[in-house]
Amino acid sequence: MRLDKYLGQNTNLSRSLAKKAISSGQISVNLECIKNTAFKVKMSDQVLYCGEPIVTLGHRYLMLNKPLGYICSTQDELHPSVLNLIDIDKPDRLHIVGRLDVDTTGLVLITDDGQWSHRITSPKRNCQKTYQVDLAETLNAALSRDIIERFKKGLLLKNEFKATLPAQLVIQSNQKVLLSIQEGRYHQVKRMFAAVGNHVEALHRVSIGAITLDTQLSEGEWRYLTEAEITSMN
Ligand code: URA
Repeated sequence: MRLDKYLGQNTNLSRSLAKKAISSGQISVNLECIKNTAFKVKMSDQVLYCGEPIVTLGHRYLMLNKPLGYICSTQDELHPSVLNLIDIDKPDRLHIVGRLDVDTTGLVLITDDGQWSHRITSPKRNCQKTYQVDLAETLNAALSRDIIERFKKGLLLKNEFKATLPAQLVIQSNQKVLLSIQEGRYHQVKRMFAAVGNHVEALHRVSIGAITLDTQLSEGEWRYLTEAEITSMN
C-alpha cells in the first residue's frame, strides 16, 4: 500500500496531511526516513511517525443487534444511524453490509472491508438471509401449504416483472414464521407477504449466511465477529 494511504488509514492524519508529514521527513520505514509519498509499505514494515510506532487497525468485522428506530444509512432528521451505536475508533471507516428498514430489528453486519461485504451483497452469491416474521393474518393449514409452495416457486412482487428466487418458509405458529430468502430487494419480505394477502407486523433478521445473531447481544449491542464467522463468507 502507498505510504500516504497507509498513514491516512492508520492515523488521525487526512491524506493531504499525511503527504505533508512524509515530505517534511516525519515518517520513517524500518528506521529509514522516507520522503516519497508513493513509497510502498508492507504490513510487516515498521512505520514511525515522529519516532512513535503506528499501530495498524487492520480490517474490522462486527455484528450488531439493531433496535427499532435506527436506520442503516447515515443519520436523517428523524432517525439516528446504527453506526451511532458503534463506540470504536474511526467509526467513519465502517459501512453497513446490506440494509434493514427502520422498523426491522436484528442482525446487521458492519465492516471496513469492501471486498468482504461485496461477497455478501453480490446478487451472484445468493447469500441466504433468514427472518423471524410476525404476521397480521392468521395462517391455517391450507393457507400455510399454499404460501410455502408460492414462496418456493417464486412470485411476482407489485410493480416488478421478475419472480423472486425460491424462498423457504417454516411455519412456527399461525402468526409466526421463519422466512429464508437469497435476494435483497427493496422491502422484500414485507412485499412477499403483501403479495399473498398478508401483512408483516414485526420483522427480525436472525442470520446472514452462516452468521447467526448472538443471543447474548441485547438490542443496540454489538461484538466483533469471530475468525470462523469472518471466513465463513469467503
Ligand atoms: N425485507 C423487508 O421488507 N424489510 C427489511 O428490513 C428486510 C427485508
